[in-house]
Amino acid sequence: MVGGLVSTARADTAPRGQAVAQANACMGCHAVDRKLVGPAFQQIAARYKGDVQAPAKLARKVKDGGSGVWGAIPMPAHPNMSDADIKAVVDWVLAGAPSK
Ligand code: HEC
Repeated sequence: MVGGLVSTARADTAPRGQAVAQANACMGCHAVDRKLVGPAFQQIAARYKGDVQAPAKLARKVKDGGSGVWGAIPMPAHPNMSDADIKAVVDWVLAGAPSK
């Protein structure tokens, strides 16, 4: 697991949301700057820019899954992720998925 990694001195250079995304296989379907199975994280950030409902809406989407916003392919549910991890990864995505 990445737990040891993020708790070292590098913690302030690698965003927690990025570590959460890597630990939960989000990167198997998403890339930061291009579409894979799901939309690029930067596309998501652009789409929800200025949307005050976005953090709550996307947290629910990560937890429960769903489809129809970007296409017919569904985003799988992640019922075992903690709310804190989901919040961290959603905040990171909405910030444009920065690498530090
Ligand atoms: C099996 C492939 C797959 C995995 C794994 C996956 N996603 Fe997705 N994701 C998708 C697809 C496909 C969509 C587009 C869904 C739609 O059109 O409504 C999506 C959409 C999203 C959206 C935008 C939702 C919206 O309603 O606009 C966010 C945010 C997101 N994913 C985050 C994550 C995070 C965080 C993880 C890891 C915890 C993750 N995804 C794992 C395929 C995946």
